[in-house]
Amino acid sequence: MKINHSEILQSLSPTEGLSFLSENALGKIVFSSSFGQEDQVITDIIFKNNLPINVFTLDTGRLFQESYELVDRTRAKYKKEIDVYYPTTSSVEKLTKEKGLNSFYESVANRKECCFIRKIEPLKRALKGAEVWITGLRAEQSENRNDMPIWEWDEGFQIYKYNPLINWTYDEVLNYLAEHKVPDNPLHRKGFISIGCAPCTRAITEGEHPRAGRWSWEASQKECGLHAG
Ligand code: ADX
Ligand code: SF4
Repeated sequence: MKINHSEILQSLSPTEGLSFLSENALGKIVFSSSFGQEDQVITDIIFKNNLPINVFTLDTGRLFQESYELVDRTRAKYKKEIDVYYPTTSSVEKLTKEKGLNSFYESVANRKECCFIRKIEPLKRALKGAEVWITGLRAEQSENRNDMPIWEWDEGFQIYKYNPLINWTYDEVLNYLAEHKVPDNPLHRKGFISIGCAPCTRAITEGEHPRAGRWSWEASQKECGLHAG
């Protein structure tokens, strides 16, 4: 039978929830960070409380230089390990040989293929053997994410997923970062809110949806497949 921590986690703050799982999980807990603002809140909680949660990131090979610098600044601040997963070399070589280096602009299928090779397959490796996967998802981020629960069984990745900030507002995230002096990406002050790979992210203008800068040439659901919903 599947474990259902929904009710208890709903009543706990992210710090309490992460501590609760650390004490009650039967196996390994991992946190996927893209070094976004939400992720930095969770990283701060995990590292400051010395929680037994492995923090990892997926380096697609196409991130912004500012994002790479933030990985190193975060490591230096907390003096903790952050695992970095890479795409399988042969898959990237095959993709770029057959379709060029920027095939993602040509069709949604091509874009999803690139996301699969550079994010999904490495994510599968990163989640292997873990019991709980923590993410920085927030319901407010998009329609897709509106009804995502705080705790769920992810059928695709066969793992429990805990989204501690699912009910947080953007202001709550910003307040936490300021109050706790958490390092963040300087691109946030240049019009970027949601930041992914450099060729697939642009700054947004006033009034635009926070995720409008992701795959902005597409009319898709703006998901890479990490979070099927
Ligand atoms: S995405 O699906 O559109 O790329 P988004 O950038 O909103 O996702 O991030 C949502 C959550 O997905 C993050 O809080 C993080 O848990 C996970 N995530 C996204 N990209 C990465 C990445 N490159 N490395 C690790 N985790 C990631
Ligand atoms: Fe490839 Fe763009 Fe997806 Fe990054 S976001 S993995 S560059 S398609």
